[in-house]
Amino acid sequence: MKGKILVTGGTGFIGSHTTVELQNAGYEVVIIDDLSNSNRDVLDGIEHITGKRPVFVEGDCKDINTLHQLFKDNPGIEGIINFAAHKAVGESVQKPIMYYRNNLNILLNLLDLMPVYGVKGFVFSSSCTVYGEPDQNPITEDAPTKKATSPYGATKQMCEDIIADVIKSGSPIKAILLRYFNPIGAHPSAEIGELPNGVPQNLVPYLTQTAIGIRPLLSVFGDDYDTPDGSCIRDFINVVDLAKAHVRALDRMLNDESEDALEVFNIGTGNGLSVLQLIDAFERATGVEVPHKIVGRREGDIEKIWADPKRANEVLGWKAEASVDETMLSAWKWQKRLRERGIM
Ligand code: WQD
Repeated sequence: MKGKILVTGGTGFIGSHTTVELQNAGYEVVIIDDLSNSNRDVLDGIEHITGKRPVFVEGDCKDINTLHQLFKDNPGIEGIINFAAHKAVGESVQKPIMYYRNNLNILLNLLDLMPVYGVKGFVFSSSCTVYGEPDQNPITEDAPTKKATSPYGATKQMCEDIIADVIKSGSPIKAILLRYFNPIGAHPSAEIGELPNGVPQNLVPYLTQTAIGIRPLLSVFGDDYDTPDGSCIRDFINVVDLAKAHVRALDRMLNDESEDALEVFNIGTGNGLSVLQLIDAFERATGVEVPHKIVGRREGDIEKIWADPKRANEVLGWKAEASVDETMLSAWKWQKRLRERGIM
């Protein structure tokens, strides 16, 4: 058995998939989540997959006393993976104070308490959004970060800087920043997956809800970009592959595999795929048509971005494995499971 890990936001999309992979790797998991954008039922899904129910604390990581109590009730936590954050790009433009207060205060509380309770390793859920519109693709970790195009992106950049400053100040912790590209898909068991509240902002949940008939039409935001088919290009990464990267990052820190107290990795496939190509991939993999139409561009969208995952492959020892077809099938199986359960 490996050590005990705190997963903040662990009933969320990426948090729940990461909890499964942590348990599969032999870690014991404690989840804290305020359930503002997820559901307690996710714990049943995790237990159905691994046979182990994580310890669950319903609480707000912005409340430092909640965190003190959690660490006292769950001694021996060796690492933290921090997913707890608001993450809707569009919403952040409308509610910047809510985003700055939530995303920054959660991070500050965790970094404050880690040395108090002897927590060694910190994995931060960052995002390719810190790069802004790349000057060239594929993009490496050394690419310059540009001014964020949204408060959401700005909080990710600020959190990365805060972590670097805290470590530079002499804090005994180690940290790894994982810059995700576009997480998609669901666990192959269809026990857990992406379950956004309300109308999905992200492409794939909107796509699968259209395919099953919940939405009449998928709008493709623009086909006049400087790309082969005119639609935006992204690096779509299977969520289970992404989850495994977090296990590797924790192992690396807790096993002292690196001298560096702070490391950054791009977590992507290295392949750029356009929005229209992804729709084609879904239709080809599932045989289900997705009614869609081209509309105007969405404010703030990046034209094209995909990762150079060389450092993650060679240094972190992680590589994306799932194919696009397999990932599209997992998203579709999950959407059908939600229908069978009468959830949507
Ligand atoms: C992808 C592409 C849209 C919906 C953001 C964050 C990133 C991460 C994922 C949290 C774009 C197009 C979308 C639709 C469409 N956040 N699209 N019709 O904006 O690349 O990334 O979410 O983990 O940090 O920046 O993801 O899925 O919203 O959009 O045409 O109904 O799909 O224009 O080109 P995005 P997305």
